[in-house]
Amino acid sequence: MEVLQNGDLQATELLQAQAHIWNQMFNFINSMSLKCAVQLGIPDIINNHGKPMTLSQLIAALPIHDKSKNNCVYRLMRSLIHSGFFSQQKIYENDTEEEGFVMTNSSKLLLKDHPLSVTPLLLCVLDPILWKPRHCMSDWFKSDDHTPFDTAYGMNFWDYAGHDPKLNRIFNDAMASDAGLTASVVIKKFKGVFKGLDSLVDVGGGTGTIAKAVAKEFPHLDCTVFDLPHVVADLQSSTDNLKYVGGDMFQAIPPADAILLKSILHDWSDEECVRILNKCKEAVASKGNEGKVIIIDMVIMENTNDNNKSIETQLCFDLQMMELTTGRERNKKEWANLFSIARFSDYKITPMLGLRSLIELYP
Ligand SMILES: C[S@@+](CC[C@H](N)C(=O)[O-])C[C@H]1O[C@@H](n2cnc3c(N)ncnc32)[C@H](O)[C@@H]1O
Repeated sequence: MEVLQNGDLQATELLQAQAHIWNQMFNFINSMSLKCAVQLGIPDIINNHGKPMTLSQLIAALPIHDKSKNNCVYRLMRSLIHSGFFSQQKIYENDTEEEGFVMTNSSKLLLKDHPLSVTPLLLCVLDPILWKPRHCMSDWFKSDDHTPFDTAYGMNFWDYAGHDPKLNRIFNDAMASDAGLTASVVIKKFKGVFKGLDSLVDVGGGTGTIAKAVAKEFPHLDCTVFDLPHVVADLQSSTDNLKYVGGDMFQAIPPADAILLKSILHDWSDEECVRILNKCKEAVASKGNEGKVIIIDMVIMENTNDNNKSIETQLCFDLQMMELTTGRERNKKEWANLFSIARFSDYKITPMLGLRSLIELYP
């Protein structure tokens, strides 16, 4: 009461401020509810049903034996409908009208066997291994550690992944699923990027999802997946124009007409990016001015009336990079600055990959 009388916040504003804080405070529950739905296989169950699925049909299909939890399924679904992962349709059976759950475009992308499934990325981002550093952020700010991940585990992300098969697997699966979606869009919409190239090295190419797709689409193009030795150790190519090479991009990158860096530069600080870009420049040197570096990463958007959600996601991604790595997401100006320090002569940004852009960078 005292605050209302003496403070400068009116009741409505006070309640709005409280609601705003509650909204932010509880945002993680949306993430965890989605993870729960995926772990229970709800998207697959509803999709396999083939028509709108009633709550009782869904409950019957779930491995839930305690009837007192039936209402909890309803509450979980109500929240997921609100978030846009499912919707409802009326169904008429035996003269009765009921609501049935149906898929939306977003839940279709969470199906286990969808070739472009986002599920591996979701399960990786929400894995307890990646939660721990999020609790260490304030300690990290006050420490000399490079990242909150270092504060949590006493080593950097890449070393941890090299030692822990679980993180190595879930991270590589996550990257592969993300790369699959990107590859399909790039190959469909931006074929021209690969025009005139005879060779391509996908630096930090993970398990090779993009390179495989590119090699298949362009059989004349010699593709190399270059990544840390523990990532490519057991990988073998089944096509002539694709090979795996283990190494360290800070030491040397195999020569090629073009270097692909997808989701690489956002892992590293400007100083580290300049070192990587210098190695890229050396690698494309034989192609002279026609050699190029193809970057797929975010360009943080400028505020317009209709892109608030996209910017929010990009800023969350930026903080994710801060938690795990020395990297960051960059806006146009920050990219321009980086390319200028690395002494590249020209670049072109094509902002057409949803939250990410395609950047062609010329020596
Ligand atoms: C964010 S992932 C991106 C993977 C892949 N480009 C994609 O988008 O799906 C970063 C990749 O860089 C690799 N990496 C990290 N440090 C590296 C280094 N020093 N040399 C080569 N690759 C490295 C990691 O193993 C990982 O596969």
